[in-house]
Amino acid sequence: MENPIPLTNKKLEGKIAIITGGASGIGEATAKLFAQHGAKVVIADIQEAKGRSLAESIGSTHCTFIKCDVTDEQQVQSLVQSTIDLHGQVDIMFSNAGISSTNDHEQDILGFNLDAFDNLFAINVRGSVACVKHAAKAMVNGGIKGKIICTTSVTATMGVTKQIDYAMSKHAVLGLVKSASKGLGKYGIRVNCVSPAAVATPMLEKSMKMSVDEIEKLFESMNCLKNGVLRASHVADAVLFLASDDSQFVTGHNLVVDGGFHPPV
Ligand SMILES: NC(=O)c1ccc[n+]([C@@H]2O[C@H](COP(=O)([O-])OP(=O)(O)OC[C@H]3O[C@@H](n4cnc5c(N)ncnc54)[C@H](O)[C@@H]3O)[C@@H](O)[C@H]2O)c1
Repeated sequence: MENPIPLTNKKLEGKIAIITGGASGIGEATAKLFAQHGAKVVIADIQEAKGRSLAESIGSTHCTFIKCDVTDEQQVQSLVQSTIDLHGQVDIMFSNAGISSTNDHEQDILGFNLDAFDNLFAINVRGSVACVKHAAKAMVNGGIKGKIICTTSVTATMGVTKQIDYAMSKHAVLGLVKSASKGLGKYGIRVNCVSPAAVATPMLEKSMKMSVDEIEKLFESMNCLKNGVLRASHVADAVLFLASDDSQFVTGHNLVVDGGFHPPV
């Protein structure tokens, strides 16, 4: 692993971090950044080949892959236990696995498909609850003042005309973060979320049926901030802030990473 960061500047030296949805996109960028900052990272994902190859490229001293479907609470519990068996504890949970609405349904209100909604909520919401619950239990039992970060979205605080189920799921995860931060504060555990605007990851390429260049061009025009394009690495920087001691007194916070995103109504 290329590692240009001197030891004194490493923000997560010796910390143990689980990243769900870590095989791709925002999770992948965060796994690389966390490892560069000295964390031991467990990538948890349903994409086994991609996750294993990423873990290998980061290096076995800093990164492991564990297959886990976050919709299955038993698998999440076992992910957390395997991490403890491997590394002794869990310091950071980045609950990031998620999907967008399916291509088959616009998910506007008149054509809303409830089966697609159930599937999306199982991953984005149920999966997040399972990850927050089991990481928090491990932290409380181990006396760890851990950090939990979820990936929400700019749509967590706005209404939309299409992909309503996605926006609803992110509203729900924001509610989870705010509520869990209240319950876990007495243990010194911080719970926060990052809310990115559009990043041209595989999730968006698939849902928009557009290339990375096309997606970036489209969304760049909707940013107030004229400072390039929002990339997964920018979101990873925000997650690192929330996972590190740079944010020691921040909890229940929704850190928006959107360059002043203002979509046309
Ligand atoms: N890309 C964006 O524009 C954007 C914007 C705001 C929020 N987000 C959120 O960021 C998070 C990461 O998405 P991304 O854009 O990096 O997409 P991505 O598709 O590149 O990564 C998502 C990862 O989650 C994994 N995953 C999906 N279902 C899973 C399950 N049941 N169990 C375990 N892993 C599962 C996928 O295999 C994939 O590796 C998601 O929660 C997404 O909603 C993305």
